[in-house]
Amino acid sequence: MKLEGKVALVTGAGSNLGKMYAAALAGEGATVVIGDLDGDLARSAAAEIADTGAVTMGLEMDVGNDSHIESAVEATIARFGGVDILVNNAGLARGRWNLCSELSNDEWRHIMWINVGAPLACARACRPSMVARGGGVIVNQSSMGAYGALSSAYSVSKLAISGLTVALAHEFGVDNIRVNGIAPGVMNGRVPPEALERIMSMQLLKRRGAPPDLAGTLIYLVTDASSFVTGQILIVDGGVAARP
Ligand SMILES: NC(=O)c1ccc[n+]([C@@H]2O[C@H](COP(=O)([O-])OP(=O)(O)OC[C@H]3O[C@@H](n4cnc5c(N)ncnc54)[C@H](O)[C@@H]3O)[C@@H](O)[C@H]2O)c1
Repeated sequence: MKLEGKVALVTGAGSNLGKMYAAALAGEGATVVIGDLDGDLARSAAAEIADTGAVTMGLEMDVGNDSHIESAVEATIARFGGVDILVNNAGLARGRWNLCSELSNDEWRHIMWINVGAPLACARACRPSMVARGGGVIVNQSSMGAYGALSSAYSVSKLAISGLTVALAHEFGVDNIRVNGIAPGVMNGRVPPEALERIMSMQLLKRRGAPPDLAGTLIYLVTDASSFVTGQILIVDGGVAARP
């Protein structure tokens, strides 16, 4: 139980990768707050994880809404005393396969805000509590798509969140807050057959990734196993981004 006494807030954790992250953190003894655009999904994921003996809370939290971010952080502090770990998992995959030039300005703004602006807003909201607790850890969700496998607004936004990770590591290091990122490869999302074929031809491990493939990386990044690691993106993609 490496995270006993720690409080973690995970965004977009009502289902899929975020839910798996929340369960992995709970499995190491953390108290976990599950925020999701869909409040019912958040509460049912929290109840499911609580059934394993963990302390959890699920709440509606649209990371695109500033007041939702503020109230989620306030509710976490009010109920559990503070925030030690923030996992900025929520992301918008719309436009994942579209060329940048095919999106309207509004779609572009929305993707950039949800995938880059909102994680910054969440980090900013959690910082004072982390400072009060002597430090903290932030993990941002990037994507293999940032590293050459895609050309879309989504991939640009994921390269930007990798950049934001380094910027925040610079800004928050003084407060003993480590900021790192995970760039998953193709996990369980829907992928058009021709794109899947192209990605699998570049992937060194010849199987599709699954959410549990990311759990160990998250636990490494939020525990003292990585106590001197900050400003790094760990690419967990079966080797697509590997170059000689
Ligand atoms: N699944 C993959 O293969 C994969 C690969 C690389 C990167 N990623 C990244 O991982 C993250 C999670 O991906 P996923 O496939 O699990 O996502 P998903 O689309 O399955 O959504 C997961 C959860 O996020 C919630 N959500 C959506 N918009 C939200 C918002 N504005 N505020 C709060 N919650 C919101 C949804 O309600 C849902 O419960 C994303 O940032 C995505 O870009 C996913």
